[in-house]
Amino acid sequence: MVRSVVLGCGAYLPARVMTNHDLARIVDTSDEWILERSGISERHIAADGELTSDLAAAAGRDALAAAGLGPEAIDLVLVATATPDRTFPATAARVQAKLGITGGAAFDLQAVCTGFVYTVATADGLLRSGVARRALVIGAETFSRILDWTDRTTCVLFGDGAGAIVLEARPGEPAVGERGVIASYLRADGRLEDLLYVDGGPSSTGQVGHLRMAGREVFRHAVTNISEAVETVLRQTGLPADAIDWFVPHQANKRIIDATAKRLGIAPEKVITTVQVHGNTSAASVPLALAVGVADGRIRPGHLVLLEAMGGGFTWGATLLRW
Ligand code: UT7
Repeated sequence: MVRSVVLGCGAYLPARVMTNHDLARIVDTSDEWILERSGISERHIAADGELTSDLAAAAGRDALAAAGLGPEAIDLVLVATATPDRTFPATAARVQAKLGITGGAAFDLQAVCTGFVYTVATADGLLRSGVARRALVIGAETFSRILDWTDRTTCVLFGDGAGAIVLEARPGEPAVGERGVIASYLRADGRLEDLLYVDGGPSSTGQVGHLRMAGREVFRHAVTNISEAVETVLRQTGLPADAIDWFVPHQANKRIIDATAKRLGIAPEKVITTVQVHGNTSAASVPLALAVGVADGRIRPGHLVLLEAMGGGFTWGATLLRW
């Protein structure tokens, strides 16, 4: 039996910062509105020519350094992204080349904002089935490239960034008392596509398209779906909510994070919230928050960490792991 243990974590945010005040010069909005409705103060925007694979490679390099590993140690690169460099090849293959990784497999996973949670579960499955031994798992996005910068209801909410972890196969069954991924729960409901989607793509319009969202509806579903995912993972493991050391939610909106934590009975001081400094970075948001929690010493080896996310599709899910 094998379980997947986290060896290190990394992050990258592009240098350019766009504040709410900057946005108020582009669309009819204000710092007060954005802050009150979403908790976001600023977001990072990739430079011209800076691609999702560049962000992903930077976060991946950071995670490898934290794990004390070189490129030869990795035999699986997974990138969760909805904003790939090209229609093909997979951004993961480009990241593999940029990092000098030459062994094993590389592919992208598309579950929009739930991408990182889906990808951790996928890597865990591949490690446990013996397909790979060490996986570099990345969430990376350049959502600035798919925003309609004239639509104030969406362009104020999103940003660019990347985060990554290294997972290693270790002997022993997944267990609540042991380090590693303990349980994952993944869901999708394709009937709700029209509430959050991009109005383009290679096989429909031949254009990249722009993000469209019915914000209020998504908000309502988010709290319900995230709560369902977290409750299911806790039920699977027999743990009460107060056993969790750190709740690391998808960073879309502070109001969603606060409402979900309250509904689940997770104390506010156990919630890692970073949405204020990078906005909604889709698949990158959970590992970006993880990297902050690790860097400032809150998340330490042996801690129980609960990840969750919800996004376009709809997709949603949660993963419980012991760091
Ligand atoms: O990762 C998963 C994907 N997304 C999410 O999780 C996002 C989920 N949704 C949300 O976070 C929130 O619904 C929003 C932040 C998008 C919006 O907050 P809300 O409290 O649901 O506001 P609303 O959409 O009900 O809009 C309230 C008002 C409207 O004006 P009226 O109709 O009341 O006159 C909007 O036109 O705010 C107006 N508005 C704005 N005003 C200033 C919408 N966007 C803006 C803006 N600045 N940027």
